[in-house]
Amino acid sequence: MDLGLQGRVYIVTGGTRGLGNASARELVADGAKVIVTGRDEKRTTQAAAALGAGAVGVVADNADPATPGRLIAAAREHFGRVDGVLISVGGPPPGSGLGNTDDQWRTAFDSVFLGAVRLARAVATELTRDGADGAGEGGADGADERGAIGFVLSGSVHEPIAGLTISNGLRPGLAGFAKSLADELGPQGVRVFGLLPARIDTDRVRELDGLAADPVASRATHESHIPLRRYGTPQEFGRAAAFLLSPAASYLTGIMLPVDGGALRGF
Ligand SMILES: NC(=O)c1ccc[n+]([C@@H]2O[C@H](COP(=O)([O-])OP(=O)(O)OC[C@H]3O[C@@H](n4cnc5c(N)ncnc54)[C@H](OP(=O)(O)O)[C@@H]3O)[C@@H](O)[C@H]2O)c1
Repeated sequence: MDLGLQGRVYIVTGGTRGLGNASARELVADGAKVIVTGRDEKRTTQAAAALGAGAVGVVADNADPATPGRLIAAAREHFGRVDGVLISVGGPPPGSGLGNTDDQWRTAFDSVFLGAVRLARAVATELTRDGADGAGEGGADGADERGAIGFVLSGSVHEPIAGLTISNGLRPGLAGFAKSLADELGPQGVRVFGLLPARIDTDRVRELDGLAADPVASRATHESHIPLRRYGTPQEFGRAAAFLLSPAASYLTGIMLPVDGGALRGF
């Protein structure tokens, strides 16, 4: 199947490692160009170099209100257009309902929640402005598709995860925001979706397993609750993200896709 990604341009935040980076790799492999971001300069430079000529790295913190404008400007400057965004970011700190502090909630809200809302809003404005480069180009069935906005969320959208109270508090709200935006932008040809990873084998998940007294046993317990009996690979996540961002997914909007080996028990 041709995903229709050739020549399209996507912003991938949190794209220097983990899920964002794997998604950027899949996008570039199918002919798209990407702006990848992270807070660390060295990692950002290295990630962009590893992705090759189809990628430019920009050091940017999702919590910074100036970030969306800078990233859209970079995409236009380097590649001449914007077709969508995948919003990934470092996960909120672990902790309990009684244990997480106001500072932890505020910091996580700024980067995970408000940062995502601002990026989505800015990219939506860019995609729907008169004369935007992607406007009016055909989706898989020839329908007008202006672009796509994807949020990397978490299985905590549907089921609270033990020990990740801030994620449990923020992610369902972001899913609600994404659904509202899908309603608002659908008539203008912009799709909005969320991806719900559970246990994909990245630094973040290894760090979380590392908090257990016995990290190997913790991983084995998690794997035993996943129907496919293993953690997912970043590439498996990246392929799902690249598909949903692509024009090949032209009739998919407002959805929250679990990428979890079947771990989610609800329908
Ligand atoms: N992996 C999973 O299975 C899983 C499951 C559920 C939810 N999630 C969520 O999915 C997201 C990505 O997970 P991951 O496993 O890819 O995490 P990761 O391996 O820790 O990678 C996070 C990426 O985001 C960047 N980043 C962190 N804070 C940032 C900020 N404020 N602004 C811009 N970039 C930032 C990091 O680079 P710098 O540190 O250099 O900024 C890095 O590139 C997280 O929010 C995580 O909670 C993941």
